[in-house]
Amino acid sequence: MFAKRMENVLESGTVKTANLVSKLKGEGADIISFSMGEPDFHTPENIKEACMRSLANNFTYYTPSAGIPELRRAIADRCRRLNNIPCDASNVLVTPTKQAIFMTMLAMVDEGDEVILPDIAWGTFEACARLAGGKVRYAHLSVENAFRMTPEAVAEKITKRTKLLVLNSPSNPCGAVLTKGDVKGIADLAQDHGFFVLADEIYNQLVFEGEHVSISSLEGMFDRTITVDGFSKTYAMTGWRAGWAVAPKPIFKELNKLQTQSITCVTSFVQQACLEALLGPQGSVAMMKQEFKARRELVYALMKDIPSLDCPMPSGAFYMMPSYAFDMSSEDMAAYLLEEAHVAVTPGSAFGPAGEGRFRLSYAASRENIEKGMARIKDALARL
Ligand SMILES: Cc1ncc(COP(=O)(O)O)c(C=O)c1O
Repeated sequence: MFAKRMENVLESGTVKTANLVSKLKGEGADIISFSMGEPDFHTPENIKEACMRSLANNFTYYTPSAGIPELRRAIADRCRRLNNIPCDASNVLVTPTKQAIFMTMLAMVDEGDEVILPDIAWGTFEACARLAGGKVRYAHLSVENAFRMTPEAVAEKITKRTKLLVLNSPSNPCGAVLTKGDVKGIADLAQDHGFFVLADEIYNQLVFEGEHVSISSLEGMFDRTITVDGFSKTYAMTGWRAGWAVAPKPIFKELNKLQTQSITCVTSFVQQACLEALLGPQGSVAMMKQEFKARRELVYALMKDIPSLDCPMPSGAFYMMPSYAFDMSSEDMAAYLLEEAHVAVTPGSAFGPAGEGRFRLSYAASRENIEKGMARIKDALARL
C-alpha cells in the first residue's frame, strides 16, 4: 500500500520518546523528562506580544514564500554580524529548520548519492538523506576527540559519489563544538572533492567553550554551503515552527521552489514575532545560555558520581550522551530507566550505529528536576 521510500524512514526516535512521555504524564505519572530537545523556558513576553499585535492587525494572510522582506533582511544582518556569513536578504529562506533540512536533502541528493553524517548524529539527517534516495556514510566520532567530527574522519568516507556532508556544531546529541581547525580542514576537503555542506547551526548561540565558526564564512565556502538555523532553541520558540536556510542563489531558488509546493510560507503572524525576536532585547538569550551552562556543570558533577556512566564534558547545546557499563541495548536501558526510575531519556540507537550503548540526556530541565532525576538514575543503575 505504501510507497517504497517509506521503508527508509523510521519514526523520529526523539519525537517518539517525547510522545510517550507526554502520554504518561497525561495519565498522571511522575516522570522526570530528560528527553526533550527544547528549552524549558517560556517564549519571552516581547515576542508573544508581537505575535498578538500582528493577529490584532489581521496579519493573517499568505506572505511571500521566502518570508516577509523585513525578516529576511534581519536574518541576513544577523548571519553577517554573528556568523560572518557573506549573505544578503536574497539568500534567506524563512522556513522551519527541520523543513530546511528536508528540502535541502530533496534538492541536493539524488538516488545513489552519498551523504556523510557524523556517527553519532541527530536522526533526522539520516531519515531525510535516505528519503531523498541518498546513501549514508558515517564518519566516526571518538570520545578522545570529545565527539568532534574531524577532517581525518571525514576524509576516510569520501568517495566519487559524495554529494553532501552534514556538519552540526554544536551537536545534537553530543554537545560537541568543532574547532576552527576542524571546520577549515573540512572546508578544504569540500573544495578539493567538490561536495556540498549542510551546516546545521541551530545551537550556535549555546557554545560554552571554544568559538562557533560557520563553515560558510570561510573562503570559497559560501557557494557550496546551505546553513540552517532557527528560533526554536535560541529564543525558546520550539512550537512556533520557524527558522531559516541561507544558501547561494541557485540553491536558494530550488529550496524556495520546494517551499512553494509544500508549506507555501511560514505562518504570517509567527514571522512578525520572529522579527521581534531578532530586533528586540536579547537579554533572555544571555540568561538562558548562562542557565544552561550552570546546568551542564550540575549534570556533569552528578554524572561523575554514578560509576556506571561515562561522558566527556560537552562544550555546547544542552545534551550529554553517556555510555553505560551494562550489557543492555539502549532501547532496553531507556525503557528500564523509564519504568524503574521514572526518568525519560532517549535511546542512543536513535542517533546512528555508534549511539548504541549510550543514551541521550537533555539537561533542558530545571535544576531541581536535574537533581531529582539524576538521583533516581543513580539508584536505578545501582540495582542492576
Ligand atoms: C540539530 C538540530 N537541528 C534542527 C532541529 C530542528 O529544529 P526545529 O524544531 O526548529 O525545526 C533540531 C531540533 O531538535 C536539532 O536538534
